[in-house]
Amino acid sequence: MIELAASILSADFAHLGEQVARATEGGATVVHVDIMDGHFVPNLTIGPPVVKSLRKATDLPLDCHLMIENPDEFIPAFVEAGASWVSVHQEACVHLDRTLHHIRDHGALAGVVINPATPVDMLSEVLDIVDYVLVMSVNPGFGGQKFLPNSLHKMRQLSEMRARQGWNFRIEVDGGVALDTVAHVVRAGAEILVAGNAVFGKGDPKTNAEKLLKAATEATLQKV
Ligand code: DX5
Ligand code: ZN
Repeated sequence: MIELAASILSADFAHLGEQVARATEGGATVVHVDIMDGHFVPNLTIGPPVVKSLRKATDLPLDCHLMIENPDEFIPAFVEAGASWVSVHQEACVHLDRTLHHIRDHGALAGVVINPATPVDMLSEVLDIVDYVLVMSVNPGFGGQKFLPNSLHKMRQLSEMRARQGWNFRIEVDGGVALDTVAHVVRAGAEILVAGNAVFGKGDPKTNAEKLLKAATEATLQKV
């Protein structure tokens, strides 16, 4: 099943609840929350207090994408604030296996993320313990960047490995997902589509979400 994870990075933070509600009316079933620390990525965003407020504003799962150093230190605070899914970057974790178990032990779904320059092979020893794999299709840090097509072969590779090994993780994609790229990512095997600018950038988030999901569904039907 294809799901749309609306990324609030491009939303109007002064009207966050309403913007999320509008995207939900358009079919978004996950809220993607980008946590940046100014070290792992060159930008700063939000922390647990905003997650806590969002938890009260929506019933959708909160997908917290941690772009931070030392994520272990903050996992309990994010889960306590209401994160339903927590993903960490392979590049930020010295003890990735431990960190992923840490997330699960706190009761959230555990995801692992790879940057554009990181090959899927780096994940071979953890693919059996993750709930989802997030393939970055831009260099993390900012919304509204251009989609990097090199990410497509990684989604295909993950799909094939999963089928071969009988694993259960889901495949998520993040960065530059819009009307002109969504068919490519769906055909490559992405199931959870993160979109920020395409949903909240301009116009009505409800209409934007509907159009994106419609294009994604059409691409699924054409999938061979
Ligand atoms: C970028 C973030 C993304 C961002 C995607 O580092 O991880 O979630 O919001 O934005 P768009 O969809 O605008 O490329
Ligand atoms: Zn993200």
